[in-house]
Amino acid sequence: MLPAPGSASPILDLAGLTLEVNHLPRGVRFYTQVLGLTLLHLDEDRKVARLRVNAHQSLTLWQPVTRQCNDPWMESLRPRGASHLHFAFQIDPDELARCEALLDEHGLPWQEIDLGTPELPDRTVYFYDPFGHGLELRGVNLRDPRQPVFPPPPQPDAPAPHALPVLGLREVALGFGDYAAMKERLPRAYGLAYAKEQDDRDFAQFTLGPQPQPDGNGTPARWLYAWDPQVGLADMLGGDHALVQFYADVDAVRALVGAAGLPHVHESGRLAARDPDGHVFEFLSPPQS
Ligand SMILES: [Fe+2]
Repeated sequence: MLPAPGSASPILDLAGLTLEVNHLPRGVRFYTQVLGLTLLHLDEDRKVARLRVNAHQSLTLWQPVTRQCNDPWMESLRPRGASHLHFAFQIDPDELARCEALLDEHGLPWQEIDLGTPELPDRTVYFYDPFGHGLELRGVNLRDPRQPVFPPPPQPDAPAPHALPVLGLREVALGFGDYAAMKERLPRAYGLAYAKEQDDRDFAQFTLGPQPQPDGNGTPARWLYAWDPQVGLADMLGGDHALVQFYADVDAVRALVGAAGLPHVHESGRLAARDPDGHVFEFLSPPQS
């Protein structure tokens, strides 16, 4: 049942991620007012807020509560929201300067880095949320033929004059204490599509889609970056004890997770597994359209 080298990955796209916050109302304020996300669901007892990024992607905030799991369904996996997670949103590259002005307006320090080449610039902006999560705004070429299963929409869902015009989630960067074991495990235990690794850092890139593809230059694809506990660009850390949601062929991932012997819970259309490095991955059947 293990995937043959070069076979298609059962992972289809990035569905969402969950952040740990120490103050839920402050988190809701930040992500609705600064990022323009729409609040979908607020549970004051469970200390959970779920926000809509676009029609297919969400951002969830969890405030930990003593003796209580934020999501009883996966309680046996002891999930937490990510701490100090680096993640990126997709924006229209023509909106970058306006985003920088909006960040100034909100009083948020930011740093711009060009990840491209002089011929093909790829400017990206980094800043922090109030909880130490490292955010990035990365331009996406909406005309690129390498579209993910759930392409970013051409316009933000809830355009607000003072909110950053984000289109979708682009990437999530997780820290792994045992980099070598991670690199062997992620393709084997979840079927993640290994794309490449950097020469000078322990930094592996997985394409969140059926096939690995080259990164960069405005690709609309989504990414999982897996690092050792390094400090990356703009002094950002990979997340610890992260909770990440993926669209996937759930039955195919379940067979891999079971063969790997990882703790997991399963019900119709969804599966969650605890990774040995402390992250929890949730796999969701894609919505029928
Ligand atoms: Fe990044």
